[in-house]
Amino acid sequence: MKLSARLSAIAGASALVLGAFAGAVPANAAPGTAAAVTPPDISVTNVKQHLADLQTIATNNGGNRAHGRTGYKASIDFVKAKLDAAGYTTTLQQFTYNGSTGYNLIADWPGGDPNQVVMSGSHLDSVSSGPGINDNGSGSAAILETALAVSRAQFQPTKHLRFGWWGAEELGLVGSKYYVNNLPATERSKISGYLNFDMIGSPNPGYFVYDDDPTIEQTFKTYFTGLGIPTEIETEGDGRSDHAPFKNVGIPVGGLFTGADYTKTAAQAQKWGGTAGQAFDRCYHSSCDTTANINDTALDRNADAIAYAIWNLSSGTTPPPGKVFENTADVSVPDNGAAVTSSVTVSGITGNAPSSLSVGVNIVHTYIGDLVVDLIAPDGSVYNLHNRSGGSADNINQTYTVNASSEVANGVWKLRVQDKAAIDTGYINSFKLTFP
Ligand code: TRP
Ligand code: ZN
Ligand code: CA
Repeated sequence: MKLSARLSAIAGASALVLGAFAGAVPANAAPGTAAAVTPPDISVTNVKQHLADLQTIATNNGGNRAHGRTGYKASIDFVKAKLDAAGYTTTLQQFTYNGSTGYNLIADWPGGDPNQVVMSGSHLDSVSSGPGINDNGSGSAAILETALAVSRAQFQPTKHLRFGWWGAEELGLVGSKYYVNNLPATERSKISGYLNFDMIGSPNPGYFVYDDDPTIEQTFKTYFTGLGIPTEIETEGDGRSDHAPFKNVGIPVGGLFTGADYTKTAAQAQKWGGTAGQAFDRCYHSSCDTTANINDTALDRNADAIAYAIWNLSSGTTPPPGKVFENTADVSVPDNGAAVTSSVTVSGITGNAPSSLSVGVNIVHTYIGDLVVDLIAPDGSVYNLHNRSGGSADNINQTYTVNASSEVANGVWKLRVQDKAAIDTGYINSFKLTFP
C-alpha cells in the first residue's frame, strides 16, 4: 500500500532520535516537506507468490524446509537464482551442524559506501514438522521482494545494502552465529545496522517492533504511525532470533514481529482486530504453518515497512528514470550456434542518440567467455559490448555506456548475442536502453 500521501502528517518525530545508528535519521525530517526518498510499495501479491513457491518446495521435499533436508537447499537455490538475475552479488556460506551441511545466503547490492552497511536478514529454514510459511517464509519472502524492488528501482543508496538468509535458526541461531563469528572485526564494524524479520505474517497478528537501536526502532514506528496502526514492543523473547548474534557483538539491531505462540489479549484484539484469547500463530512450529497460515494484511504492512526502513536508513536517492525502452522477453542463445537478438523500438526522441547511451544487458549464462555481445543501431551499425572476456564467470548483468551520437535515436535497436563455444548455454534475460 502507498503511504507517501500520509508521510507529511507524521514527519518530524524521527528527526530527534540520535541512536547508535548515527546519521541514519529517516529522510522525511521536516514537517510538510516531501520525503527525499520514496520507498516503493512492496507488492504483497509478489511476496505471496514467493510463499507459494516455498510451500511447493516443502511439499516436494517431504513437507518441510528444515536444516539438513533437501527442502532447505532447494529454498536457498530458489532465493539465490532470483537475486542473481536481479544483479546481486551472492555468496553461499556453508557450515556443518548435526552432521549436515547448512547454508547461509548473503546478497550484496553493488554500490554504496562499503564502510556503512545496512543489512537485513531472515532465517530461511523451517522446523522439520512443517513447511514454515509464517516461520519464516514470511520474513524470507518479504526481504527477497524488497531486494528485488531495490533492483527494479535501480536504487542508489548512500550506504551499502546487504541481505542475508540464515540456515538452522530453528536449531539455535546456528547460521547467523556462524556468519557473525566468521566476520572479521573490521567487517563487523562496517555494519551500521542489522534488521531482522522472523514471523511477520502471523494469522492473528500483533504489530511488534524490537526495542533495540533507537533509530531503527523509531523508523519502524514512524512507518506504522503513518498507517494509523499502534505498535508494541516485542517481548516474546529478546534473544530468540537471528538479530541476537549481531547484537552480542555490538551491532545496532532492530526488527519486526507479528507474534508466535503467545496469546493475544483483549486489549490487543481491541486495537489490532483478530481473536483475543488465541495465539498470534496457532500453527507455530506445526504442520499447519502453510500458505493458509498467513494474514495478508499483516504481511503487506510489514513488507512495506521493511522497504520504508531500508530506503530511509540507507539515505539514498533513486535516479530520474529517463526514457526507458526495455525488452524483458527471454531469448535462448543456442550453444556454439547462430547469433540471436532481442529488440526494442525507440520512438518519441528527437534527433540523435546521446554520446552516453545507457545499454542495460542481462544475460544468464554459465560461461561468459563463450559470448560475443553487440548493440546494433537502427541503421545496422554495430557496437561491440563484450567479446569473449570473463572466462568461466556466470552471467552478464551490466550497464554499458555507448557513444551513439552518430545514430538517429528512433527506430529498432537490437542486442545481438552469439555463443561461440560448446557446452555452456544460457539466454538473454533482458535488454534495456535508457535515454536521458
Ligand atoms: N525465532 C523463533 C522461531 O523461529 C520465533 C520467535 C519467538 C521470535 N520469539 C521471537 C522471533 C521474538 C522474533 C522475536 O521459532
Ligand atoms: Zn523463526
Ligand atoms: Ca557455449
